Amino acid sequence: MDEKLKALENQRAKVLAGGGQKRIAAQHEKGKKTARERIESLLDPGTFIELDAFVEHRCTDLGMAGVEAPGEGVVIGYGNVNGRLVYVFAQDFTVIGGSLGEMHAAKICKAMDMAMKVGCPCIGINDSGGARIQEGVDALSGYGNIFYRNTLASGVVPQISVIMGPCAGGAVYSPALTDFVFMTKGSSNMFITGPQVIKAVTGEDVSAEELGGASVHAEISGVAHFKYDDEDSTIQGIRRLLSFLPQNNIEDPPIVDAGDDPARTDPGLAAIMPEASNKPYDVRSVISRVVDAGDFLEVQPDYARNMVIGFARLVGRTVGVIANQPAVMAGVLDINASDKASRFIRFCDAFNIPLVTFTDTAGYLPGVEQEHGGVIRHGAKLLYAYSEATVPKMTVILRKAYGGAYIAMCSKHLGADQVFAWPSAEIAVMGPEGAANIIFKKEIEKAEDPAAMRSQKIEEYKDNFANPYKAAIRGYVDDVIDPALTRGRLCSALFMLLGKRQTRPARKHGNFPV
Ligand code: HXC
Repeated sequence: MDEKLKALENQRAKVLAGGGQKRIAAQHEKGKKTARERIESLLDPGTFIELDAFVEHRCTDLGMAGVEAPGEGVVIGYGNVNGRLVYVFAQDFTVIGGSLGEMHAAKICKAMDMAMKVGCPCIGINDSGGARIQEGVDALSGYGNIFYRNTLASGVVPQISVIMGPCAGGAVYSPALTDFVFMTKGSSNMFITGPQVIKAVTGEDVSAEELGGASVHAEISGVAHFKYDDEDSTIQGIRRLLSFLPQNNIEDPPIVDAGDDPARTDPGLAAIMPEASNKPYDVRSVISRVVDAGDFLEVQPDYARNMVIGFARLVGRTVGVIANQPAVMAGVLDINASDKASRFIRFCDAFNIPLVTFTDTAGYLPGVEQEHGGVIRHGAKLLYAYSEATVPKMTVILRKAYGGAYIAMCSKHLGADQVFAWPSAEIAVMGPEGAANIIFKKEIEKAEDPAAMRSQKIEEYKDNFANPYKAAIRGYVDDVIDPALTRGRLCSALFMLLGKRQTRPARKHGNFPV
């Protein structure tokens, strides 16, 4: 037995050595950790159990016969994050560049299958040269098998992708199918075709960082949800995100008591709202004053900044917050803001996370670019996502809620369970200027001083219609509240709604306007 144990030890040591000291040193020189180091820092100390350490490839083409690939270039297993189970896989760039062959993919699929079977999050750390060229169609089949599982797992267990190296070609599609994409600045990139191919096909000169670095995907494309300066802060970001999430779609998120009084009033909230209704303010200051202990994890903070989304807690329970941002483009709804919010709403609904919406938007963004870009189709996503969601839905109308934007931002008509309005709310078909120009056109034209008449009519319209009471009279707004009471009313509403049950007619699935 001793000899057999010795042999086992040797085999394991070989696997643990990955691609060898030289390649590990090269990885460290780039400011990157190895796959095993990444897993160690992600999981609670001593909880990682590795699986499939002895898996080998069976490729013999293009000189692969006899080529050793310890661990097949990917480390998989399970462990705990904040005491809760997760499955994890991390590609090992030191072994054939972390390239994905048939057995490498089979290991990833095993981690995903197990995560689905036991109902826990699956976290994939990507650092790979893509499909292992020598394995040809077997490598492609491996990717297909992963995409298939990403899709089946969607809405069943949270899926998180971490990009900590190159991620090119079809490899980017697995992360894109998952719920959250994390990127590390400087060392990660994602693109379908890389700089060399682009140069050859279109003649454009672009670096990998400019093409698909963390900033590009966090600010411009919207592919990434979080970007961090280094690997350690990226890992801490994943742990923080997981603290807000349930293990799967039939569990609720963990309750975390921050000791913040649910009935806490905040007289300072009213002062955030400027006197003039066209003046901006940062809606995040409203959010942080309302939620437990001001703790708000903003998702995609640098993309479509006119819409703010993220996780927070009320009375210890996770809520998904969706808010127009008046400080950026007057909080308009445009293509990117609609996409950003809808995907988030669908995630929250799939994972039993109640929605809290703060409304203050100038409306849909007018313009040829938006219309030709399909703002109709993208804007419809917001209507669909809110209507489809059956989790508790609470809305606070802070200020402007005109026309389609009033409906789209989780109005009563899309199934909001509780709608509150601050006295500063302006709820009507359109803003005072536009409305006065149309309905008082004749009086304005006939007046001796058309400009004065116009101002008078705008004021009349403001007094009579740009307020919350017309909507409250119809019951579209459940209550007009003192801003100081916002937290208390939301906490109370959340508690009241905990038993909410809403069923829909049976169907295979709806046809989301993608
Ligand atoms: C086999 C690969 C590989 C691959 C890298 N290696 N990518 N082996 N298949 N796809 C190997 C290298 O030969 C090298 O082996 C080691 O990994 C490290 O690679 P280097 O090139 O030395 O590292 P670096 O200079 O850091 O460059 C990393 C890289 C580059 C940018 C990722 O390797 C690269 O461009 N690779 C190819 C990327 C690509 O085009 N992949 C295919 C995408 S298409 P040694 O033995 O020298 O250490 C695709 C289709 C999927 O993925 C479709 C799914 C639907």
